[in-house]
Amino acid sequence: MIRFKAPYFHLSTSGTSYVMKITERGTLEHVCYGVRITSDEDIPCIEESGRIRLGTVPYADEAHQTVFPENLLMEISAGGRGDFRSSSIELWKDGSMLIPELKYEGYRIYEGKADSFPASALADETVSTLEITLADPSYGLAVILRYSVYEEEDVILRSMRLENRSEDKIGIRQASSLLLDIPYGDFTLYSYDGAWARERHETAHELKSGITVIDSKLGISGNEHNPLVFLENHRGEAYGFNLIYSGNHMESAEVSPFGRIRFISGINPYGFMWNLEAGSTFETPEAVMTCSRCGRAGASANFQNFVRKYIIRGSWKDRERPVLVNNWEATYFDFTQEKILALADEAASAGIELFVLDDGWFTGRRNDCAALGDWEPDRERLPEGLKGLADRIIEKGLMFGLWVEPEMISINSELFRKHPDWMVRRHENEPVVCRHQYVLDITKREVQDYLFEKLSAVFSSCCLSYVKWDMNRTITDYPDPDNGQFLHRYTLSLYSLLDRITSAFPEILFEGCASGGNRFDLGLLCFMPQIWTSDNTDLHDRVAIQEGTLMGYPSSSMTAHVAASPSHQCLRRSRMESRFNIACFATLGYELDLCSLSMEDKLALRRQTAFYKEHRTVLQRGIFSKLVISSNQRFWYMTYGKETMAAEIQTLNECHSGREDRLFFPDAKDGCMYEVSARREIIPLSEYGSLSKGKGYVESEEFSMKVSGNVLRNYGLPLGPQFTGNGVDGDMRLLGDFGSRIYVIKEIENL
Ligand code: GLA
Repeated sequence: MIRFKAPYFHLSTSGTSYVMKITERGTLEHVCYGVRITSDEDIPCIEESGRIRLGTVPYADEAHQTVFPENLLMEISAGGRGDFRSSSIELWKDGSMLIPELKYEGYRIYEGKADSFPASALADETVSTLEITLADPSYGLAVILRYSVYEEEDVILRSMRLENRSEDKIGIRQASSLLLDIPYGDFTLYSYDGAWARERHETAHELKSGITVIDSKLGISGNEHNPLVFLENHRGEAYGFNLIYSGNHMESAEVSPFGRIRFISGINPYGFMWNLEAGSTFETPEAVMTCSRCGRAGASANFQNFVRKYIIRGSWKDRERPVLVNNWEATYFDFTQEKILALADEAASAGIELFVLDDGWFTGRRNDCAALGDWEPDRERLPEGLKGLADRIIEKGLMFGLWVEPEMISINSELFRKHPDWMVRRHENEPVVCRHQYVLDITKREVQDYLFEKLSAVFSSCCLSYVKWDMNRTITDYPDPDNGQFLHRYTLSLYSLLDRITSAFPEILFEGCASGGNRFDLGLLCFMPQIWTSDNTDLHDRVAIQEGTLMGYPSSSMTAHVAASPSHQCLRRSRMESRFNIACFATLGYELDLCSLSMEDKLALRRQTAFYKEHRTVLQRGIFSKLVISSNQRFWYMTYGKETMAAEIQTLNECHSGREDRLFFPDAKDGCMYEVSARREIIPLSEYGSLSKGKGYVESEEFSMKVSGNVLRNYGLPLGPQFTGNGVDGDMRLLGDFGSRIYVIKEIENL
């Protein structure tokens, strides 16, 4: 709900309040963002007295000697007028920096939200929007601050429109989507960082005096730092932030000399200079923010809900995502039609639902050095063409999917020979190379048209249910002229291309990818309901990657595959069942040579797909949470309605620990009874090495209990002993190194 009762704007969601006020000087200031304020009478009590004196710090004017811009809580800051903290806008005209005095001009409240940016969150009857216009007539400049309120999810979207009402061009060096000033508090900033194959590992930065910056300069949202950020303090207060944007972004948290915390998020000012022509406007992407008293776990749950409901869209939004098999780690470039069909046979008999043909299906693509841009099926490899192959795969009862990497060009390609000027480059130097490939300049209309036609022809040439849209390099060598606009234009052009393609093929399930998770963001999720999380499919490495990703994104949007052992990324050996236990907390797939699996692993695979389908609603629609017991043991939970999947995840097997592990479920309700049962796993006898002479397998322990919520939450349910080298009995649990076990927890009755 949005209310204006002069001088306050009060935005409230089911659990939070966001309050601003128009001051008697005609400026807009922030009052508070936190737990819901139930009575407007309380607002003046929350406001600071404004009587603090700050020595030599500049004050607003002689009539306001205790109004120090440096210490005010703001909604936007342009700098140059005594607020020396980071600015959220920076504007230039003819070589000089503008120092605007933004004064309140008016407001507008409406149901729904402006469809202001190609990748904005969905509007429906539950959202309402406040627009506050601030202006500086001397510069002919207006700034429209926009707040869209999603009540049930406790989420507020923030964005800004800049209007050039003057006769001259204004240069925008910075236009951040969000600025939030928090009065004070010891906050820790959590960011999600990494590199190729170790994306979105959580990092804690204790905020101290100064500025902490997270950003991407890669041209895409990037694997180095995701735009997802949380601020949390010791009292369990947490703020969550994300950006609906796939390009360069910057998030900064500054602790001012007086302990104020200023958080800013938006397009990265690095390399950015937008020409705002006379009479034109500039829209920032939308920033998403939430607030919770249950720490960042609470803020994360709000985000998982919000993204599932308002970011992901299209015909696959709420549909069950199919279990797929992808041939990449099974064959890489070394495949024939026979091999693909053999894999498909195995997949069909194992209960897999979708076959994805990855890189290498088009002419000239026998390795990663050539042919990006051409997109002509390789008739030598696929003698019956894509249609022939797809038909055969569909006959086996599978859907058919295909990999493409449309935004790229290889020098060794027909496309480059015909259109060398379509490559992103500057004229004066050779472009930087990455995986032998270059970026296609999709900001050119003719390039977008080429891709749309080429891809449409491929997508309609066979019965295609799924497309993996890859993007395997960062963007460099931004071309002249106006290269300060290039990266933002690239992102906007990508959105229009995706909009065109996904609208033309509404039934295709699109999965984003960028060398794994190099572009995992809310902008992309507006067009593609799921994204390949990481090229690292190792079960242990995936624990940190998936935990980090699930902090901001729902499990249906995050894909995870069971791959081979030893892992192709780190050579770690693991059991097939343990790999599944990690991969199933996501949209599940397989990416290994199914034809060369042992009999035990084939059996395990069949049981896994059946188990996943039985519990798919929980695993794909549930809310994720975790409990870290020690560096060696943690629990994952995915809860939907009355059912929870819990995974006990162990790093190393502890010999002779003398301890019985306990299953905790922190969200168990005191007044309820629960039924808990362990997923039974196939344990090949070879796991026991020379201790066992037998062949074949045993089943993991049978475990089924009824227990009260009180015990599950507060005491933990003892799970029985693990194998410790002292002999084996039927109920002993074998987890081993990097092992895990899944428990199904069902709320069965109220006590
Ligand atoms: C990227 C993707 C992989 C695979 C290869 C194909 O690395 O992340 O999953 O599709 O490209 O070249």
